[in-house]
Amino acid sequence: MRPSTATRARLGPRLGALLELCPVEGPVADVGSGHGRLAFELARRLPPGQVYATEAKAGPAAELRRLLGGDPTVTILEGQGLTPLRQLGCRGAVLAGMGGRTLVDILEADRDVLAELSWVCLQPMQRVERLVDWMGKQSGWVVRTNSTRERGHFYSGFLLVRQ
Ligand SMILES: C[S@@+](CC[C@H](N)C(=O)[O-])C[C@H]1O[C@@H](n2cnc3c(N)ncnc32)[C@H](O)[C@@H]1O
Repeated sequence: MRPSTATRARLGPRLGALLELCPVEGPVADVGSGHGRLAFELARRLPPGQVYATEAKAGPAAELRRLLGGDPTVTILEGQGLTPLRQLGCRGAVLAGMGGRTLVDILEADRDVLAELSWVCLQPMQRVERLVDWMGKQSGWVVRTNSTRERGHFYSGFLLVRQ
């Protein structure tokens, strides 16, 4: 499902392209959700209780809680990378707004949690080559990509779907 024009306007080109790449299939976790805008839009597309938004530390998690204004459709979890998703039953995870190196570190740190997921959507802010290199060493995933520009910066998105 393509994001509506209004959704795209709320998210901006980068997050709009990311949302477009995400399967409409939950439960899903927005890892390192930050401002929570993507988690909010994911929750609009899925049945209640299917969206998690994570933050690594208590401070950002509290800010995320404030920004989402107690939205009951998004469950906020605190913890590093994929760790809070362990045995949560998520089908998918979105990781964006971090560098390629951080994304690879997160994926490698919890390979058992990664193995529980059917899809992962990734959009590095920089060091894309680190992520591309890592993806080249993985097997069992089909990769789809998209790209967009925002304020003169070029962003690549990658959807990995388990074969
Ligand atoms: C720049 S924001 C990106 C927010 C949003 N995902 C986006 O793409 O616009 C990066 C967020 O990731 C969080 N973060 C960084 N490392 C993390 C980790 N290992 N686990 C969970 N969150 C992390 C930061 O606290 C921050 O809120």
